[in-house]
Amino acid sequence: MCYIVPLYMCGIFAYTGRNGKDAAKVLLDGLVSLEYRGYDSAGIFTPESGAVKTPGAVLELKKKVPKGFKGKSGIAHLRWATHGEPTEINAHPHSDCEGEVWVAHNGIIENFKELKKKLSAKGHTFVSESDTEVLAHLIEEHLTILRRGSGVAKKDVFERAVLAALNEVRGTYGVAIQYKGEPEKLIAGRMGSPIVLGLGKKEHFIASDPSPILKHTKKVVFLNDGDVAVLTPKSHTIYKLSSELVNREPEELDWNAEEAQKGGYEHFMLKEVMEAPEVIENTLRGRVIAEKGLAKLGGLESVAKELEKIERIIIVACGTAYYAGLVGEYMLEEFAGIPVEVELGSEFRYRSPVLNQRTAVLAISQSGETADTLAAVREGKKKGALTLGIVNAVGSTIARETDAGVYNHAGPEISVVSTKALLSQLTALALLTMFLGRQRKMSAKIGKDIARELRNLPEKLEKILAWRAEVEKLAKKYAGTRDFMFIGRKYNYPIAFEGALKLKECSYVHAEGCGAGELKHGHLAMIFEDFPTVALVTKDSVYEKVFSNIQQVKARKGPVIAVATEGDEEIAKLADDVFYVPKTLEMLSPILNVVPLQLFAYYFARDKGLNVDRPRNLAKSVTVE
Ligand code: F6R
Repeated sequence: MCYIVPLYMCGIFAYTGRNGKDAAKVLLDGLVSLEYRGYDSAGIFTPESGAVKTPGAVLELKKKVPKGFKGKSGIAHLRWATHGEPTEINAHPHSDCEGEVWVAHNGIIENFKELKKKLSAKGHTFVSESDTEVLAHLIEEHLTILRRGSGVAKKDVFERAVLAALNEVRGTYGVAIQYKGEPEKLIAGRMGSPIVLGLGKKEHFIASDPSPILKHTKKVVFLNDGDVAVLTPKSHTIYKLSSELVNREPEELDWNAEEAQKGGYEHFMLKEVMEAPEVIENTLRGRVIAEKGLAKLGGLESVAKELEKIERIIIVACGTAYYAGLVGEYMLEEFAGIPVEVELGSEFRYRSPVLNQRTAVLAISQSGETADTLAAVREGKKKGALTLGIVNAVGSTIARETDAGVYNHAGPEISVVSTKALLSQLTALALLTMFLGRQRKMSAKIGKDIARELRNLPEKLEKILAWRAEVEKLAKKYAGTRDFMFIGRKYNYPIAFEGALKLKECSYVHAEGCGAGELKHGHLAMIFEDFPTVALVTKDSVYEKVFSNIQQVKARKGPVIAVATEGDEEIAKLADDVFYVPKTLEMLSPILNVVPLQLFAYYFARDKGLNVDRPRNLAKSVTVE
């Protein structure tokens, strides 16, 4: 298995106080409420007792922390995915050579390799594969320079060293940093990865979200990108990276811990749908060479030569991931010219599939643990195929058992119904299409067009999400409806099925996906005035065809809700309701079109008072066949 794994989600919690509280206890308790952010390894540091780290989640860490481990301040971390495997050595916090500077980090330091080379040449010794460790050594390097008669007061060297180091790193970070030389002081920084400060009485906190803070104080300050905060038990000062002071008013949060985990949203499902722009950015980060129209997939480099010779791809997946696979089939065949079949994980091995070394079996799985998909991977392996994965959960069984793959970087998906994972699966498939396509006949021009449009997706998704009140109104309008049809063609044919699946699992009403062209072969018989059809009819190569399918529905008095391209006035004359989405490339249109369907399923079920995040009879990870 070879996947390249940066770290985006994870949980940071840091504490400094002068009120007799045991920092170790505060930190370990706080980590529990951050556990939803990551659970492959955990660690804690206090200046008094040192560091304890372990693979596994908080419970493992609690077991490992010895009696008598104490402190008045400290930092702790829960990891979801990082450079390197989930081992003790790669767990956070990371330290410098002398164990003086300790860093807990979310994000990815993109220039860590060049910094590591520079620091190694200066004599720094690295023990882990983590990009974060580089930051600890970089701070150490600046501390050494500043302490060597720079004229900077002793009480200021730590913050000056951190500011200098953060100005040198490229990439994203949310960090909590501690220095043994000033044990009461904590420094936080934010660039692309959230950090919130908690302001208590003679105690201050740093966390990735407010959930571990709220039981101590409701007064918080959310850092902005480029902010660096210096905390002691009695003070907090915020700087910009340029050292300029920032005045940011604290706010009182009226949330409980669960609401904080949900970022203030009512359900994880909505929060996860709202994360769409960020998810796409994370899936794309560092993987697009736009000027050359190339995709750089580090996790596939080890098998790049084999991939050049692949003559057939079989995608195996279940549920939502299967629908992602169907979209991938269209992408890969049209732009990479490779024959693709998509199989349900649960069916693959019954077909006696004919495979050889020129076949790649590509598993798509959010959890990386779905038993049927895993069984399909094993079948592929047994028959000599190259096995690949598009997987979200780092270190999961599918990630470990496949020969190579691409991680989604979507962060943990908590709601049982899959939303953001699908968007990142579709994005990863577009990257894979570029990767394999450019190995074959795809022109640089097409590669560049895809790259450009991939980059535009987050902004377009922001727009769709900003219009979500329109979907909410639609959900109310159709609230009493018991049956829905979803139709789409070509790239949006699988999205019709996904729209129906979302609605079914969230709200238990009857919903059917149907290829729009298939309507007349049977489904049309069901249409009448109480059986609405949701039609994916964005402006693309099959627009006219779907338009005419909608006319067939209207002729049977069926109400139509259209998902259409901004500016399309014709559709508004035909459909009963229209939700507009921005224009994009046809191959990428499912990434935009599916979001209103996810929102519709969400609002429709929420208004029925259902527990959207935990639909009855369903589990997040289906580890039985
Ligand atoms: C639907 C849903 C499921 C999963 C399926 C595969 O909302 O969540 O259909 O997509 O069980 O799960 P993974 O991707 O974990 O293999």
